[in-house]
Amino acid sequence: GPALLADTYGRVATDLRVSLTDRCNLRCTYCMPEQGLQWLAKPDLLTDEEIVRLVRIAVERLGITEVRFTGGEPLLRPGLTAILTEAAALTPRPRLSLTTNGIGLARTASALREAGLDRVNVSLDTLRPEVFKTLTRRDRHHDVLAGLRAAHEAGLTPVKVNAVLMPGLNDDEAPELLDWALAHAYELRFIEQMPLDAQHGWQRSGMITAEDILVSLRRRFTLTPEGERERGSAPAERWLVDGGPGRVGVIASVTRPFCAACDRTRLTADGQIRTCLFATEETDLRAALRGGAGDAELAALWSKAMWGKKAGSGLDDPSFLQPERPMSAIGG
Ligand code: GTP
Ligand code: 5AD
Ligand code: SF4
Repeated sequence: GPALLADTYGRVATDLRVSLTDRCNLRCTYCMPEQGLQWLAKPDLLTDEEIVRLVRIAVERLGITEVRFTGGEPLLRPGLTAILTEAAALTPRPRLSLTTNGIGLARTASALREAGLDRVNVSLDTLRPEVFKTLTRRDRHHDVLAGLRAAHEAGLTPVKVNAVLMPGLNDDEAPELLDWALAHAYELRFIEQMPLDAQHGWQRSGMITAEDILVSLRRRFTLTPEGERERGSAPAERWLVDGGPGRVGVIASVTRPFCAACDRTRLTADGQIRTCLFATEETDLRAALRGGAGDAELAALWSKAMWGKKAGSGLDDPSFLQPERPMSAIGG
């Protein structure tokens, strides 16, 4: 059928990212302040039924083949398993993934798998419990490691690990993290810090770049770039480590953006469509939905929103302004 989530640059969104909550049980310093944020009010959140309906429309009418649930921390959403079950019953069945901080995964991994979850990406920035505590302001390092093991055992594979490096905190850990990930068969990706923190404290000069990371890894490992073909629309550039089969990825949203190949559309926990992490406008699907719009009408609104997707993040424009919503409220 026609490409219904196309934009004016010839890209087509086939990957939907759904934020299930803006809340989180960690307080990563690059994300939110110690005291947390003003959370979305319950009535503003989409209900489980509303989320399932919008995912169904995306899959049945708009060509979405991959659905990723994010947050905040998506494991905090009581309806997660039910939502997965419904999403897995759609035709054609979308691939289902989850981006989580891993807390609670030890308890839930096998149930999530049974509900239809295919794989998980887990955020973990350090192997040192003390550094974890400084970085996330919570003493939960052990829970994350247990969550990772459970995910692997439950077959939520490939299990990917996302790490953000910060100067003076964990920027010396890249090789250690890679050794550890290879030993556990996790796919490690380093992420450049983006200006999406609630405190608006991001500075380009305070960011560990893809180049920094590669220099540090190459002191210890031989890295061979993977071809463009294998990459497809993935945000991560990947390298074979010491001839493979292990790999490492770098998501260089700031210094080597992948916007030209972006195939994403986003739904926030309060029912707004975003064309990009850095979009300055949103489309209020919730208002239409609660106003009684039918499936066809909602699909048309979604298409129209995506048609307006900008070429890139605008990060390099002198006039760049950080979006009003922080990462935790957009969905990672
Ligand atoms: P897979 O490659 O399908 O496993 O997923 P992913 O890497 O896209 O998802 P994940 O949620 O693990 O995201 C990893 C990092 O990529 C996070 O820091 C995201 O914020 C970042 N990222 C995800 N989507 C986008 C995007 O649309 N633009 C940019 N610039 N970064 C993104
Ligand atoms: N820049 C880059 N990555 C971020 N994450 C959270 N905030 C930022 C930021 N400002 C990461 C988390 C998680 C993923 C969803 O996004 O560490 O791995
Ligand atoms: Fe929570 Fe993720 Fe933000 Fe950390 S980065 S506080 S895990 S939402």
